[in-house]
Amino acid sequence: MIQVKGLTKIFPSGLRAVDGLDLTINAGEIFALLGPNGAGKTTTIRVMSTISGFDEGSVQIAGYNVDSDPQKVRESIGVVAQQTGIDYFLTGRENLALQGQLYRMNRADINARIDELGGYFELHDSLDRLVSTYSGGMRRKLDIACALIHRPRLVFLDEPTLGLDIKSRQSLWRYIEKLNREFNLTILLTTHYLEEADNLAHRVAIINLGKIQVIGTPAELKHSVQGDSVVLEFAAGDPHAGKFATAIKQEPFVSDVLWETDKLHLYVDSGAGRVPRIMQAATEHGTTVRTLSLAEPTLDDVFLKYTGASISGTAGETTDEWWKQWAGKGGGNWSNKWQADNGKPAEGTPDAADWQKWQQGDNKGGGNASGEWPQDRDANPSSNAGPEQSQDSNQKWPSDKWSGSDDWKKRDKPE
Ligand SMILES: Nc1ncnc2c1ncn2[C@@H]1O[C@H](COP(=O)(O)OP(=O)(O)O)[C@@H](O)[C@H]1O
Ligand SMILES: [Mg+2]
Repeated sequence: MIQVKGLTKIFPSGLRAVDGLDLTINAGEIFALLGPNGAGKTTTIRVMSTISGFDEGSVQIAGYNVDSDPQKVRESIGVVAQQTGIDYFLTGRENLALQGQLYRMNRADINARIDELGGYFELHDSLDRLVSTYSGGMRRKLDIACALIHRPRLVFLDEPTLGLDIKSRQSLWRYIEKLNREFNLTILLTTHYLEEADNLAHRVAIINLGKIQVIGTPAELKHSVQGDSVVLEFAAGDPHAGKFATAIKQEPFVSDVLWETDKLHLYVDSGAGRVPRIMQAATEHGTTVRTLSLAEPTLDDVFLKYTGASISGTAGETTDEWWKQWAGKGGGNWSNKWQADNGKPAEGTPDAADWQKWQQGDNKGGGNASGEWPQDRDANPSSNAGPEQSQDSNQKWPSDKWSGSDDWKKRDKPE
């Protein structure tokens, strides 16, 4: 279904965001690209979905080449971008209809499909409400429904559960699994949540610095880390910890030793039985173990083994929603309309608290509740800005959306 060979994407700054990537994904698979922020996941998805160009390699999607047959590729795929593509000032139904029209579906088919998807994602009762009143989980379901309107065979989900609480995340996993099982939909998702890849994906590729480090089923990957994992924490700056690590590595029951800043990961056979010996060795070397934990290897151990870093220690991404900040920034008529329409999130939804905070905040001059413009949006294209701010020359803010007012420009010029 997907065949990528030697894919390389170099940004004008010289950064090799994707560096010689090889990937084959079979029809009917749920495949996860797992990697920390900045690993090159979004860039890869953007190339595969014909949004971005690339420098080297070849990319075949659903049997079509992205270079010579981009139109065919677009017909075969659905894309849920990391930054949502749905319009908060429309209802769910309007969003779905708009998406269907973009694919030139006829009205009867669009309506039939909206019924089907509304039922599937249990959004029926909310379809005629403004999306700004949806909870985060509902919005993500609508996002996926929009990507499926034209019945694609393959769907790309870029960080589908980013920023959702654990309950909404698990509920979304069930929908994704069901899509795969019932409709044999091929799904390529990216994530930096280890448990997401572990729970959902048939196969996982760990990606870091634009390169795939290892590919396999979650079980195979965990198996590649031999033995149980014993994690030791020492007092900060313990002078003897290094010597102890070198010595314990010589023990025959220790298969590997990895440092993660001041934590030491030991991979040992039959972990529990080895703890006394480990503690004894620590005492012999005059080092004090502050904490010790013992577990079967997780994907985090796999990640540590192949990248030398813990994924939980890498910078996460935020999901600040630009539209709230923008509306608060003096979004002109839109902002007023939005408030007048009483686009207030339903009580008890995760966003209700946000809304309250925002209302109490200085929403005249400031962007978000604290009144500050999120500076890093423009400084770091990968942080949370999504493609809109990218320096990629083929990406432009859709200015016509706000035509008739110059307010949209303010977004690019924070005071
Ligand atoms: N439009 C762009 N211009 C320049 N650099 C970019 C652009 N988009 C992404 N990058 C950089 O490319 C690298 C990979 O980014 P990305 O694919 O967004 O990573 P991920 O989705 O894994 O977090 C990062 O270092 C990011 O800063
Ligand atoms: Mg990304």
